[in-house]
Amino acid sequence: MKKIVIEGGNSLKGTVTISGSKNAALPAVAACILTGGPHIIHSLPTLRDIMTIKTIMSGMGAEFHENEDHSLSVNTDNIIDHEASYDLVRTMRASILLLGPLLARLGKARISLPGGCAIGARPVNLHLKALSAMGVDMRLENGYINAEVKHMKGANIFFDIPTVTGTENIMMAAVTADGSTILNNAAKEPEIIDLADMLRKMGADIRGDGTDTIFIEGVKELKPAEHSIIPDRIEAGTFMIASAITQGDIRIQNCRPDHLYAVIEKLRAVGAEIEYGEDVFSIKGPKIIHSVDITTMPFPGFPTDLQAQFMTLMCIAKGSSIIEETIFENRFIHVSELERMGADITINGNQALVRGRDCLLAAPVMATDLRASASLILAGLVAVEGRTEVSRIYHLDRGYEALEEKFRALGANIRREED
Ligand code: EPZ
Repeated sequence: MKKIVIEGGNSLKGTVTISGSKNAALPAVAACILTGGPHIIHSLPTLRDIMTIKTIMSGMGAEFHENEDHSLSVNTDNIIDHEASYDLVRTMRASILLLGPLLARLGKARISLPGGCAIGARPVNLHLKALSAMGVDMRLENGYINAEVKHMKGANIFFDIPTVTGTENIMMAAVTADGSTILNNAAKEPEIIDLADMLRKMGADIRGDGTDTIFIEGVKELKPAEHSIIPDRIEAGTFMIASAITQGDIRIQNCRPDHLYAVIEKLRAVGAEIEYGEDVFSIKGPKIIHSVDITTMPFPGFPTDLQAQFMTLMCIAKGSSIIEETIFENRFIHVSELERMGADITINGNQALVRGRDCLLAAPVMATDLRASASLILAGLVAVEGRTEVSRIYHLDRGYEALEEKFRALGANIRREED
């Protein structure tokens, strides 16, 4: 197994380029099931999760080809199988995104229930309830969802919670359904709009994406699309926090500041100097890090996927801050690892009280989930008295493309070693 070793204390300087968004790439690849091919997708990040969904879809008959310009051709003319096995699905919950497209294309799907993960139970009941309303017959057998439908029919759907992949799944299920579908209380994340853009290029009739009500008119047929994935706002936010915590001065390019207004607001309150243009940030970290409270919310609120990283920043802030996690029920697993580095954090239900310390201390720590691993790397960048070693970094490789190489290029003393 690999680990990442960091000698803290360097301020980050220079320019970093953000990769394509993992959470936009996964639904985009799944959407290729909706009609033959070849689809062309640009700016796909090189991540374990992308490999996983390609492996699952290859097993169904999809063909993938890496083009010279690094775009990916996806051909699903020969999609014949409709099963996603537990051994792959359990490594990536987002496999549930195959359900909607398979039902729209083949009228059947057999997908393992994803099961929970470190940050929570991660139920998919809202996905299944919406698909039932669209006429899908679903039976749970041996941990698999066996779904069948003659033809999807449009429905008026209400999501109890604005679920991101739930909204994406139903959008894909509805684009060739009979009649109209309305998604009420839909998620408004930028990744939803990116998927809608790709589906429109395929000929879908969708409007309202990015608001909490999405209207979809079923069309008879779709055609292959060429689409570029939006930049990863969570990777960009991670680098913004890295500059803030290391008194850095970095330029972040190929990003979408309009996807990060909540993070800009909070980091300016921390004392960071932030300027931005249409697709670029410059961010200087403050000498004194002021403590700031955050509450995670659905977009456009502060993203839950940056909560762990922001907590690391608050660990060396002047004063105390309260971090409230409202999206997932168990997203404080990074706290115990940060405490091993000297952090002073008290958890009370879904709130963590962080008392800022002068510094964090280098230590061997263990990644427990994707974003927690990023928070531990940020801690290592500023930890004193030795080397921080982050183990189980397969979590990191699921969602960050060459993160340590990007940090090293900004002046961090960081490398990957055999554990
Ligand atoms: C997406 O997960 C992202 N993953 C997550 O990113 C992100 O944290 C999350 O949205 C919230 O923004 C992908 O897009 C692949 P939800 P998703 O459905 O869709 C509850 C990362 O680190 N819920 O919006 O699974 C659920 O338990 C990952 O990149 C139900 O109760 O999240 C949670 O409390 C982590 N029933 C809340 O809704 C359902 O059927 C929001 O979950 C579905 C969700």
